[in-house]
Amino acid sequence: MKLWGGRFTKATDKLVEEYTASIQFDQQLWKEDITGSLAHVAMLGKCGIIPEDEAAVIAEGLKQVAAKIEAGAAEFTVANEDVHMNVEKMLLDLVGPVGGKLHTGRSRNDQVATDMHLYLRSRVVQLVELTVNVQEALLAQAEDNTDTLLPGYTHLQRAQPVLFAHHLMAYYSMLQRDAERLMDSFKRINVLPLGAGALAGTTFSIDREYVAQLLRFDGVYTNSMDAVSDRDFIVEFLSASSLMMAHLSRLCEEFVLWMSNEFNFVELDDAFCTGSSIMPQKKNPDVAELVRGKTGRVYGNLMGMLTVLKGLPLAYNKDMQEDKEGMFDTVATLHGALSLFAPMIRTMKVRKENMRQAVAEDFSNATDLADYLVNKGMPFRQAHEVVGRSVLYCIENQKYLLDLTLEEFKEFSGLFEDDIYAALDPVQVVNARNVLGGTAKVQVEKQIAAATSQLVQTKDWVEQHGSKIKIDLL
Ligand code: ARG
Repeated sequence: MKLWGGRFTKATDKLVEEYTASIQFDQQLWKEDITGSLAHVAMLGKCGIIPEDEAAVIAEGLKQVAAKIEAGAAEFTVANEDVHMNVEKMLLDLVGPVGGKLHTGRSRNDQVATDMHLYLRSRVVQLVELTVNVQEALLAQAEDNTDTLLPGYTHLQRAQPVLFAHHLMAYYSMLQRDAERLMDSFKRINVLPLGAGALAGTTFSIDREYVAQLLRFDGVYTNSMDAVSDRDFIVEFLSASSLMMAHLSRLCEEFVLWMSNEFNFVELDDAFCTGSSIMPQKKNPDVAELVRGKTGRVYGNLMGMLTVLKGLPLAYNKDMQEDKEGMFDTVATLHGALSLFAPMIRTMKVRKENMRQAVAEDFSNATDLADYLVNKGMPFRQAHEVVGRSVLYCIENQKYLLDLTLEEFKEFSGLFEDDIYAALDPVQVVNARNVLGGTAKVQVEKQIAAATSQLVQTKDWVEQHGSKIKIDLL
């Protein structure tokens, strides 16, 4: 007999049962579901909606159900459709008909929404913490590489030399925005839907604020129809995750390039690479490739969720059950990527010499040649033209700019003096970009210092929010 079976005269078709059930995937919400129920039943008792002693029996029963599930001794069945009814059924089996009072004044619609809010808020705190670990790994490498020069690229063409620390700090900054997006989303996740009932509220004089307090929510939804049908918080999470994956994926692409013989700029640790079954010499950056690849499914989850929502009339629709797998999958994917990235970056060997060599064998100081002329009074456009011709001359004569004699320089402009060699030195080229946010060593050191205190703040946030949402109802 289904928990909702009263109105039916026939059994559910087996295929329908399979098709409409969500227990296969929503069973991972069992802890959130029972926690929410414990708060709900405590409120029912406190408000005198059900007798206190019965509320206590139900609470005790719920805890036993939790212990059973925890021990792996519970069996979830498709016949009971979803986590909510599986848990309720287990409760009924344990405590008898009094267990049927648990669902007073609530619906699966506000219940499932509550579960999702409880689930996501703790995952968001966890993911911010994992993001910090990656940022710290980037920071550690940056600190180690404030003297490491490599070509900075645009169009994947060598453009201007930069510090490797500067390059890494760009990724630090991306991840900082990602962490901030997640932290900001927490405000909208940490709102309680329970008490909305199926869609319109409930006739019982419940105390939603009390439930919110027990479950450590910062507030309650102020419109019951919105409460049960809002999935914005999931879209936001998927969107923030997609962007974070985009950033990780870009870094992956750099690792893959840098690991190639063509670049040979870094070597990822053996522990984070794999080999080939046929080519003995291979050491592949599989983790980086896979994170890059998994970015696709995270985007897909975002598109999926947005598409599910479009065109849904208020309030709850069964379509919304489709909010779960994509969210679970995204949490797991991001969790995996971030967990691997921190140690992979920390253990990465930087081939400083090869990076430096690459800088010596390019024209990435050409802008500085032009700037030199500008400093001597030549309009930039004209200087650009002069340097362009110099570079062409070098290419035709198989030289780099620093190989030119002063006589050769003077062929292109009488403004060139002996100090041109110092101006073209890569270290000087880098340090000349001493502007806020530039690649000069002093500026990069400022970035690193600022980042260090920024991370302290994020860690405080994790600490505060982590303990704030700790509930001991179970
Ligand atoms: N399994 C459902 C879901 O995940 C729970 C809510 C069901 N509500 C309903 N009225 N059928 O969305």
